[in-house]
Amino acid sequence: MTHVIHRHLHSMPPTAVGGEGMVLRDADGRDYIDACGGAAVSCLGHNHPDVRAAMHAQIDALAYAHTSFFTTQPAEALADQLARTAPPGVDRVYFVSGGSEAIEAALKLARQYFVEIGEPERSVFIARRQSYHGNTLGALAVGGNEPRRAVYAPLLIEVTHVSPCYAYRDQAPGELPEAYAARLAAELEATIQACGPKRVIAFVAETVGGATQGATTSPPGYYRAVREICDRHGVLLILDEVMSGMGRTGTLHACEQEGIVPDLMTIAKGLGGGFQPIGAVLARGELVSAISAGSGFFKHGHTYLGHAVACAAGLAVQQVIERDGLLLNVQLKGRSFERLMREQFANHPHVGDIRGRGLFWAVELVQDRGTKAPFDPAAKLHARVKRECMARGLMTYPMPGTIDGRRGDHILLAPPFIVEDSHLELIVDRMHGAIDAAIASLD
Ligand SMILES: Cc1ncc(COP(=O)(O)O)c(C=O)c1O
Repeated sequence: MTHVIHRHLHSMPPTAVGGEGMVLRDADGRDYIDACGGAAVSCLGHNHPDVRAAMHAQIDALAYAHTSFFTTQPAEALADQLARTAPPGVDRVYFVSGGSEAIEAALKLARQYFVEIGEPERSVFIARRQSYHGNTLGALAVGGNEPRRAVYAPLLIEVTHVSPCYAYRDQAPGELPEAYAARLAAELEATIQACGPKRVIAFVAETVGGATQGATTSPPGYYRAVREICDRHGVLLILDEVMSGMGRTGTLHACEQEGIVPDLMTIAKGLGGGFQPIGAVLARGELVSAISAGSGFFKHGHTYLGHAVACAAGLAVQQVIERDGLLLNVQLKGRSFERLMREQFANHPHVGDIRGRGLFWAVELVQDRGTKAPFDPAAKLHARVKRECMARGLMTYPMPGTIDGRRGDHILLAPPFIVEDSHLELIVDRMHGAIDAAIASLD
């Protein structure tokens, strides 16, 4: 019997014992091509020699020093690297140990900023339905995944949710993308008005939708309109790039492709590539200066902030991405991946939508391509697809509840940036086989 509380209490996952590049190996010697980086984490694949060396060197020098006593060289160097490569004006970095912690810190920093500048009446966040921002209570509250929130609803801070960007189902027939963007922006504006513009702290959104909805991109002009509305009302814009950031969509930050700069941005998964648990909040200098000019102390903190080995790993990951020109690879291989999927599934009766950017993609499965009717949620198609993929030596990230938290299934794909065309062909072939087998098993 296992003493670990696993995610699913009725099943035991295989034991991972090793990995190299695109492949993970289990204790029975079975290999799995990693087409999803776990949860869009392993951007350099597994066991990268340069990251390993940087971690070993840091462990030999110093593993840990509490941030209330010391700073460390890797924390300073990683912050310098992140500030140098961040959008203009975003030059302060708060290190944490993962995505949820990054969101908690961003929410608190935003709230404290307003208290410090004399606007304590701001206490409301606006976020989007069908979003995912993490599982701690603040992150869960801003998240818009209803089934995940339901059990904890009485414990959550009040957040108002607006529509996500979901062109496949929500853009009306005949509606131009720009008009769809304007409609979504108008909804945000109306929601800010309804909350009372002086009461809103921030609008929180995943730049590209991730775990809950599957790689949903925004229509052209959406984020520029959002930025303008937030500015007009003095509302901060927090972009959650925990999953979609750090190169995943082909630029270091996903917001670069939207032509806007957020006030706060959260990053995590691709920051450390899974070699160490690390996340961060990137903040516009002005926000931190306001706190500095006021109380001089951000009322937050965790024991492992800026952990030296985690920062050394994150720095090594970011240096490898820069040195090896991997963002270009994300763009090029992303195009190959899209082409392969569109060819392979062009006539597939159950592949309703293929969407994404860079090496961040999702395939939405439907019972009927014409009506876009989803499969019966009770059939748990997503779980069947995952099982069939694993049986074929392929890791993908299938999720349920694509449409409203309950209905709909999609498969999220986020291969490492080192992926080659030969891997992509195998991934698409195996995924096709797994989808067909999973659907056949419903009969
Ligand atoms: C956009 C986004 N934000 C936050 C999180 C939470 O990150 P973590 O699981 O590291 O706490 C996730 C995790 O999937 C995510 O995708």
